[in-house]
Amino acid sequence: MLVLGIETSCDETGVAVYDSDRGLLAHALHSQVALHDQYGGVVPELASRDHVRRLLPLVRQVLREAGVREPDLDAIAFTQGPGLAGALLVGAAVANGLAFGLGIAAIGVHHLEGHLLSPLLEKNAPAFPFVALLVSGGHTQLMRVSGVGDYQMLGETLDDAAGEAFDKTAKLLGLGYPGGPALAKLAQRGKPDRFELPRPMLEQLGKRGDLNFSFSGLKTAVVTLLRQRTLDDQTRADVAAGFQEAVVDVLVAKSLAAIARTGLERLVVAGGVGANVRLRALLDAGAAREGFSVFYPAMEFCTDNGAMIALAGAMRLATQDRGLKAGDPGKSRGFTVRPRWDLATLALGR
Ligand code: KG4
Ligand code: ZN
Repeated sequence: MLVLGIETSCDETGVAVYDSDRGLLAHALHSQVALHDQYGGVVPELASRDHVRRLLPLVRQVLREAGVREPDLDAIAFTQGPGLAGALLVGAAVANGLAFGLGIAAIGVHHLEGHLLSPLLEKNAPAFPFVALLVSGGHTQLMRVSGVGDYQMLGETLDDAAGEAFDKTAKLLGLGYPGGPALAKLAQRGKPDRFELPRPMLEQLGKRGDLNFSFSGLKTAVVTLLRQRTLDDQTRADVAAGFQEAVVDVLVAKSLAAIARTGLERLVVAGGVGANVRLRALLDAGAAREGFSVFYPAMEFCTDNGAMIALAGAMRLATQDRGLKAGDPGKSRGFTVRPRWDLATLALGR
């Protein structure tokens, strides 16, 4: 099964070709970071227009690199949501147009399902069931994943997502957009224990406390801290390190609790914050101590990309969406996009 994957939900145009027998054949990404940098965040209209400019050339490039001709494709998977409406529409339009022309199916993929399944792109792929820690710019969720389309929410953030907290705190520290990687880099030079920052929702964890997260209070604590002192270089690095340590402590503690409570032996980490080196180090240490395994996507597939969408599309085709055969595009989830889309509604067959 040969699937072209298209990701345009936010500020990255991602395209890939995935073969269910041979794995990932080619992928390419155009990041809009430079485009949005001067505005301090993503400008939705600029994002849509850039996807329009980049997408078709990227599709041609990836097909060429994969050695695949359009008629060889079995299906086209695209991110249907959640994300920016205009940006999603670009991917949906190109995917549906191409699929219609070729007489093959267009499959709308849930962006978070893409992240969730991205560790399966690796050679050492985890078997189902597993616990997934999904930490992106828009979401922070712990999930029990029993199979494709079989997701049970264990906990999620009540306010800011982990990546969002990184980005907002980075902004307070005068770092650019997106701030997560820059903050993590600055934190390397800092002392994590110079400032005492809260570990939200951790105190009550114990045996019964819930697995939800809250990061907005931590950001407020950083605001207060920064108001009280002059910001020399070392202080900024120490605040960054203290903040990162607090977020990572909470993510690790709740992930360990999720593993203990479900009795599962595999943890999968996905989403942009999964690229955080400190998070990986503490999760690996916890896993060694508690006797479970952790699986990560390759660094380049932690943040948004087309490969995870192609993979999720191929897996959907192999299971529930088997009905999506060549010449039957009417059966796909359709041209509409879903800027807001709850992953928990994604049960098989719905
Ligand atoms: O998954 P992703 O590309 O986009 C969404 O679907 O939201 O995640 C992007 C998020 C941003 O908030 C970014 O700051 C964060 O992931 N991020 C990081 C790191 N790399 C990316 N946060 C902390 N440490 C990193 N190394
Ligand atoms: Zn994402």
